[in-house]
Amino acid sequence: MCARLGIACELILTRSVPKTEVGYELNGNVLLDQLFGASICVLAGGSDSLAEAEKRAEHLRASGHKVLVIPTGGSTPLGALGYARCAEEIAQQETELGLTFNQVVVPNGSAGTHAGLAAGFQLLDRGTSLVKSYSVLSDRDTSAARTLQLTQDVLSLLGSSASVQASEIVIDGSQLGDGYGLPTPAMLDAVRLMARAEGLLIDPVYSGKAFAGLLADLTQGGFRSGDNVLFVMTGGTPGLYAYREAFQG
Ligand SMILES: Cc1ncc(COP(=O)(O)O)c(C=O)c1O
Repeated sequence: MCARLGIACELILTRSVPKTEVGYELNGNVLLDQLFGASICVLAGGSDSLAEAEKRAEHLRASGHKVLVIPTGGSTPLGALGYARCAEEIAQQETELGLTFNQVVVPNGSAGTHAGLAAGFQLLDRGTSLVKSYSVLSDRDTSAARTLQLTQDVLSLLGSSASVQASEIVIDGSQLGDGYGLPTPAMLDAVRLMARAEGLLIDPVYSGKAFAGLLADLTQGGFRSGDNVLFVMTGGTPGLYAYREAFQG
């Protein structure tokens, strides 16, 4: 988007996945970042990338630039508004299709996707628990606390005084495996199944783990016959190309 708008883009990333294959270092999103002309600064794992970004922003502002700092995932109340609108779009499509979804399934990294959708459905009187996410970045409880707070903040930003309870934020932590960005056998199977059954490509870090969770729920009897389940494809296909070894290993 920055390339399209002629805005300089600086990415401050942290080395948060213990993978060093050449494909992981240079392919996938890194290749695209370079193609689009973004500058990339990679910090050691555990570094505070937001603090570093704020520091860089101060420096740029002092030399006369206008700077917007976007935290991880764009998961601020403002950033989550896109997915609040997505809830509205889903509701419109339900009307057009003549069906009602019983569950809307997404991955949960920095929580903006889940929180935006949950706030959107709350405002449509459908309740936040229509959304179920599978955490791929943090353990279930950490994700749940982050998602609850952000959902509440998105609702406030939209002028709602609704109060969301912790029990109304539905998150499953079973698909995280050994951690963020680390493949699980269930994820590999889920990505292959989606490719072979539907001809669709989902990414290994987010949608692959969420779809693995949905498949587990299906086989464990988590749904009734006739339930309509919406799996929201959140993008990220280029991530597949950074994980060649995992699929071929
Ligand atoms: C492809 C993809 N799907 C889902 C997500 C998760 O979104 P969120 O960080 O809003 O939880 C991300 C976040 O980076 C992503 O890249």
